[in-house]
Amino acid sequence: MDPTPTLADPAAAADAPPAVGSTPLTAATPIVLAVRGVSKAYGGVHAVSDVTLEFPTGTITAIVGDNGAGKTTLIKMLSGVVHPDHGTIEIDGQPIRFASPAVARGLGIETVHQDLALADHRDVAENLFMGRELTHRIGPFGILAVERMRSQTQRALDDLNVKVPSIRQQVRRLSGGQRQAIAIGRAVHWGSRVLIMDEPLAALGLHESARVQELVERLAGRGLTQIVVSHNLDHVFRLASRIAVMRHGRLVGVLAATETDHEEILRLIAGLGPSRSRPDGAAVG
Ligand SMILES: Nc1ncnc2c1ncn2[C@@H]1O[C@H](COP(=O)(O)OP(=O)(O)OP(=O)(O)O)[C@@H](O)[C@H]1O
Ligand SMILES: [Mg+2]
Repeated sequence: MDPTPTLADPAAAADAPPAVGSTPLTAATPIVLAVRGVSKAYGGVHAVSDVTLEFPTGTITAIVGDNGAGKTTLIKMLSGVVHPDHGTIEIDGQPIRFASPAVARGLGIETVHQDLALADHRDVAENLFMGRELTHRIGPFGILAVERMRSQTQRALDDLNVKVPSIRQQVRRLSGGQRQAIAIGRAVHWGSRVLIMDEPLAALGLHESARVQELVERLAGRGLTQIVVSHNLDHVFRLASRIAVMRHGRLVGVLAATETDHEEILRLIAGLGPSRSRPDGAAVG
């Protein structure tokens, strides 16, 4: 009953160069998650404008861009926190409307948000099972299965090589890196299909950051599809197979990590367009 949606905004498109990079990375790989023509405005601010991006199964896609480029807003649309004003989200090629973040989580899409969203006064195990508590049924009553949740938490963290002093420790007493690890551990524990991380390294020291990178690599080895927002280009190039660049709410490029370099990504982030000035890419890395 809708007329054909017109997603292009000619006024906005005038100053927006076409997106760079059309590497057919995705040709043979099934697309687990995609956004098509999604936009989101807050008042007069076009946080995300007409973004189309596919996430092939088992790939790690980095999303980069300056502060305010729209990365978090895009992530929030993928995780059901924010609804797009226009455009669609697809899982396995089927359009879907996430009525709530719980719906996205129920479909195996877990997100570690920029603010982590941990419950500070709960312990590690309670955070891991927050909103998904295990219970014993005793007659008509559900009794929290505390020991079962604790042992599963311990196993989940061991499995990910995440170390905390105790899973009974209140999360507010943990370090930034430990909190990050819990948030990621929780997402990994439940995220069967897609793991989305918004600035997973932002608050971390060198050592902690290395551990999170190890974790991402280990999960990639298991074939999990990952989407990582990061300002750390070294991290991006080390981990991601594809780099999506956002600027002023628009997607300005999607490049294969092996076919670009820091300089080109920085140019795209700054709106300077792609650079092919390097002779052969030999200086990269
Ligand atoms: N809830 C909101 N209300 C109003 N404006 C918002 C809201 N969320 C985001 N914005 C605006 O939308 C734009 C994109 O914000 P977003 O948080 O998506 O950027 P970002 O790329 O994640 O930035 P950063 O790198 O700083 O995390 C910004 O101009 C921001 O001020
Ligand atoms: Mg952000």
